[in-house]
Amino acid sequence: MFYETEKNDHGLPHNPFKAIVSPRPIGWISSLDKEGRANLAPYSFFNAVCDTPPIVMFSSSGYKDSVANIDATGEFVCNMASLDLKDAMNQTSAAVSHDISEFDLSGLEMAASRLVKAPRVARAVTALECKHLQTLRLKTVEGNDTDNYVVFGQVVGVHIDDAMIVDGMLDVTLFKPLSRLGYKDYAAVTEVFQMGRPKV
Ligand SMILES: Cc1cc2nc3c(=O)[nH]c(=O)nc-3n(C[C@H](O)[C@H](O)[C@H](O)COP(=O)(O)O)c2cc1C
Repeated sequence: MFYETEKNDHGLPHNPFKAIVSPRPIGWISSLDKEGRANLAPYSFFNAVCDTPPIVMFSSSGYKDSVANIDATGEFVCNMASLDLKDAMNQTSAAVSHDISEFDLSGLEMAASRLVKAPRVARAVTALECKHLQTLRLKTVEGNDTDNYVVFGQVVGVHIDDAMIVDGMLDVTLFKPLSRLGYKDYAAVTEVFQMGRPKV
Protein backbone atom coordinates (compact mmCIF):
# COMPACT_ATOMS: atom_id res chain seq x y z
CA MET A 1 0.00 0.00 0.00
CA PHE A 2 0.95 3.62 -0.36
CA TYR A 3 -0.68 6.71 1.07
CA GLU A 4 0.00 10.43 1.13
CA THR A 5 0.16 11.90 4.62
CA GLU A 6 -1.59 15.05 3.42
CA LYS A 7 -4.65 12.92 2.58
CA ASN A 8 -4.04 10.21 5.22
CA ASP A 9 -5.85 7.89 2.79
CA HIS A 10 -4.43 4.66 4.24
CA GLY A 11 -7.91 3.28 4.75
CA LEU A 12 -6.86 1.75 8.09
CA PRO A 13 -8.78 2.31 11.32
CA HIS A 14 -5.69 3.90 12.93
CA ASN A 15 -2.81 5.94 11.58
CA PRO A 16 0.12 3.50 11.14
CA PHE A 17 2.88 6.16 11.28
CA LYS A 18 4.04 5.50 14.84
CA ALA A 19 3.97 1.73 14.28
CA ILE A 20 6.29 2.25 11.29
CA VAL A 21 8.83 4.32 13.20
CA SER A 22 9.23 1.77 15.95
CA PRO A 23 10.57 0.90 18.41
CA ARG A 24 11.16 4.33 19.91
CA PRO A 25 13.04 4.59 23.21
CA ILE A 26 11.19 6.36 25.99
CA GLY A 27 12.89 9.38 27.50
CA TRP A 28 11.36 9.91 30.91
CA ILE A 29 12.00 13.59 31.41
CA SER A 30 12.31 15.08 34.88
CA SER A 31 12.58 18.83 35.34
CA LEU A 32 11.91 21.62 37.82
CA ASP A 33 9.88 24.74 37.30
CA LYS A 34 11.15 28.18 38.37
CA GLU A 35 9.58 27.64 41.82
CA GLY A 36 11.42 24.33 42.25
CA ARG A 37 8.40 22.04 41.73
CA ALA A 38 9.31 18.69 40.19
CA ASN A 39 7.80 17.38 36.98
CA LEU A 40 8.13 13.98 35.33
CA ALA A 41 6.73 12.80 31.97
CA PRO A 42 7.51 10.16 29.32
CA TYR A 43 8.35 11.16 25.74
CA SER A 44 8.77 8.60 22.96
CA PHE A 45 9.57 11.15 20.29
CA PHE A 46 12.94 10.90 21.93
CA ASN A 47 16.42 9.81 20.96
CA ALA A 48 20.15 10.38 21.13
CA VAL A 49 21.23 12.41 18.12
CA CYS A 50 25.02 12.29 18.47
CA ASP A 51 27.68 11.12 20.91
CA THR A 52 30.52 13.63 20.69
CA PRO A 53 29.33 15.46 22.67
CA PRO A 54 26.40 13.28 23.72
CA ILE A 55 23.16 15.08 22.80
CA VAL A 56 19.59 13.88 23.26
CA MET A 57 16.31 15.35 22.07
CA PHE A 58 12.61 14.96 22.71
CA SER A 59 9.64 16.42 20.92
CA SER A 60 6.54 17.75 22.58
CA SER A 61 3.19 17.82 20.77
CA GLY A 62 2.12 21.19 22.14
CA TYR A 63 4.07 23.38 24.53
CA LYS A 64 3.90 21.04 27.54
CA ASP A 65 5.16 21.55 31.11
CA SER A 66 8.45 19.71 30.47
CA VAL A 67 9.35 22.13 27.68
CA ALA A 68 8.27 25.19 29.66
CA ASN A 69 10.33 24.06 32.68
CA ILE A 70 13.43 23.34 30.62
CA ASP A 71 13.16 26.65 28.75
CA ALA A 72 12.87 28.40 32.14
CA THR A 73 15.61 26.54 34.06
CA GLY A 74 17.98 25.23 31.38
CA GLU A 75 18.27 21.74 32.87
CA PHE A 76 16.62 18.32 32.85
CA VAL A 77 17.24 14.64 33.42
CA CYS A 78 16.40 11.94 30.96
CA ASN A 79 15.62 8.82 32.98
CA MET A 80 15.44 5.72 30.82
CA ALA A 81 12.27 3.71 31.42
CA SER A 82 12.70 -0.04 31.85
CA LEU A 83 10.19 -2.89 31.81
CA ASP A 84 9.80 -3.10 35.61
CA LEU A 85 8.78 0.58 35.73
CA LYS A 86 6.23 0.43 32.90
CA ASP A 87 3.16 1.08 35.05
CA ALA A 88 4.77 3.92 37.00
CA MET A 89 5.99 5.42 33.73
CA ASN A 90 2.48 5.27 32.31
CA GLN A 91 1.02 6.93 35.42
CA THR A 92 3.35 9.88 34.98
CA SER A 93 1.82 10.61 31.57
CA ALA A 94 -1.48 11.63 33.16
CA ALA A 95 -2.61 15.12 32.16
CA VAL A 96 -2.57 16.60 35.65
CA SER A 97 -2.42 20.27 36.56
CA HIS A 98 0.96 21.95 36.77
CA ASP A 99 1.05 22.06 40.58
CA ILE A 100 0.76 18.26 40.93
CA SER A 101 4.09 16.42 40.78
CA GLU A 102 4.02 13.17 38.82
CA PHE A 103 6.57 11.85 41.34
CA ASP A 104 3.87 12.08 44.05
CA LEU A 105 1.20 10.77 41.71
CA SER A 106 3.15 7.62 40.83
CA GLY A 107 4.77 7.11 44.25
CA LEU A 108 8.20 7.16 42.62
CA GLU A 109 11.08 8.28 44.79
CA MET A 110 13.30 11.12 43.62
CA ALA A 111 17.08 11.02 43.88
CA ALA A 112 19.36 14.04 43.74
CA SER A 113 21.26 14.67 40.55
CA ARG A 114 24.94 15.66 40.67
CA LEU A 115 25.34 18.37 38.03
CA VAL A 116 21.81 19.68 37.56
CA LYS A 117 19.12 20.71 40.03
CA ALA A 118 16.37 18.59 38.44
CA PRO A 119 15.89 15.35 40.39
CA ARG A 120 16.07 11.92 38.82
CA VAL A 121 13.95 8.81 39.25
CA ALA A 122 15.72 6.85 42.00
CA ARG A 123 14.75 3.46 40.55
CA ALA A 124 15.70 4.25 36.96
CA VAL A 125 18.55 1.98 35.89
CA THR A 126 20.14 4.75 33.85
CA ALA A 127 19.67 8.51 33.90
CA LEU A 128 21.24 11.24 31.81
CA GLU A 129 21.74 14.64 33.40
CA CYS A 130 21.28 17.26 30.67
CA LYS A 131 21.87 20.96 30.09
CA HIS A 132 19.50 22.63 27.67
CA LEU A 133 20.92 23.54 24.26
CA GLN A 134 17.93 24.81 22.28
CA THR A 135 14.22 24.43 21.74
CA LEU A 136 13.15 24.33 18.14
CA ARG A 137 9.60 25.00 17.03
CA LEU A 138 9.10 22.81 13.96
CA LYS A 139 7.76 24.21 10.68
CA THR A 140 5.98 22.45 7.80
CA VAL A 141 7.38 22.26 4.23
CA GLU A 142 5.26 25.35 3.49
CA GLY A 143 7.08 27.20 6.25
CA ASN A 144 4.12 27.30 8.63
CA ASP A 145 4.65 26.89 12.37
CA THR A 146 3.50 23.57 13.83
CA ASP A 147 2.62 22.99 17.47
CA ASN A 148 5.66 20.72 17.95
CA TYR A 149 8.67 21.72 20.03
CA VAL A 150 11.94 19.79 19.97
CA VAL A 151 14.18 20.18 22.99
CA PHE A 152 17.87 19.40 22.64
CA GLY A 153 20.06 18.79 25.66
CA GLN A 154 23.71 17.97 26.12
CA VAL A 155 24.32 15.06 28.47
CA VAL A 156 26.71 16.22 31.17
CA GLY A 157 26.40 13.35 33.66
CA VAL A 158 25.43 9.70 33.41
CA HIS A 159 24.04 7.39 36.12
CA ILE A 160 24.13 3.62 35.62
CA ASP A 161 23.08 1.01 38.15
CA ASP A 162 26.32 -0.96 38.67
CA ALA A 163 24.34 -4.22 38.85
CA MET A 164 23.56 -3.83 35.13
CA ILE A 165 27.22 -3.90 34.12
CA VAL A 166 28.47 -7.33 33.06
CA ASP A 167 32.02 -7.87 31.74
CA GLY A 168 32.49 -4.13 31.53
CA MET A 169 29.39 -3.54 29.40
CA LEU A 170 25.89 -2.32 30.13
CA ASP A 171 23.82 -5.49 29.70
CA VAL A 172 20.58 -4.35 28.09
CA THR A 173 19.01 -7.78 28.65
CA LEU A 174 19.18 -6.99 32.38
CA PHE A 175 18.27 -3.33 31.91
CA LYS A 176 15.30 -4.22 29.63
CA PRO A 177 14.76 -0.72 28.22
CA LEU A 178 11.14 -0.05 27.40
CA SER A 179 10.18 1.18 23.97
CA ARG A 180 7.06 2.53 22.36
CA LEU A 181 5.64 1.08 19.17
CA GLY A 182 2.39 2.14 17.49
CA TYR A 183 -1.15 2.06 18.89
CA LYS A 184 -1.06 0.89 22.53
CA ASP A 185 1.92 -1.41 21.90
CA TYR A 186 5.17 -1.45 23.84
CA ALA A 187 8.23 -3.68 23.71
CA ALA A 188 11.23 -4.28 25.91
CA VAL A 189 14.65 -5.43 24.82
CA THR A 190 15.18 -8.92 26.19
CA GLU A 191 17.41 -10.42 23.48
CA VAL A 192 20.36 -9.04 21.56
CA PHE A 193 22.70 -10.23 18.83
CA GLN A 194 26.05 -8.90 17.67
CA MET A 195 27.16 -7.80 14.25
CA GLY A 196 30.42 -6.12 13.24
CA ARG A 197 30.63 -3.50 10.51
CA PRO A 198 32.18 -4.64 7.21
CA LYS A 199 35.93 -4.07 6.82
CA VAL A 200 36.94 -2.45 3.52
C1 LIG B 1 4.97 6.07 26.48
C2 LIG B 1 4.52 7.48 26.26
C3 LIG B 1 5.20 8.27 25.35
C4 LIG B 1 4.81 9.61 25.13
N1 LIG B 1 5.48 10.36 24.22
C5 LIG B 1 5.14 11.63 24.02
C6 LIG B 1 5.87 12.43 23.08
O1 LIG B 1 6.84 11.98 22.46
N2 LIG B 1 5.49 13.72 22.92
C7 LIG B 1 4.43 14.27 23.62
O2 LIG B 1 4.14 15.44 23.44
N3 LIG B 1 3.74 13.54 24.53
C8 LIG B 1 4.08 12.24 24.74
N4 LIG B 1 3.39 11.49 25.67
C9 LIG B 1 2.34 12.15 26.48
C10 LIG B 1 2.96 12.94 27.62
O3 LIG B 1 3.70 12.08 28.50
C11 LIG B 1 1.85 13.64 28.44
O4 LIG B 1 1.21 14.59 27.61
C12 LIG B 1 2.35 14.30 29.69
O5 LIG B 1 1.24 14.72 30.46
C13 LIG B 1 3.22 15.52 29.42
O6 LIG B 1 3.65 15.98 30.67
P1 LIG B 1 4.24 17.43 30.93
O7 LIG B 1 3.17 18.42 30.51
O8 LIG B 1 4.46 17.40 32.42
O9 LIG B 1 5.50 17.57 30.15
C14 LIG B 1 3.73 10.14 25.88
C15 LIG B 1 3.03 9.34 26.80
C16 LIG B 1 3.41 8.02 26.98
C17 LIG B 1 2.68 7.15 27.97
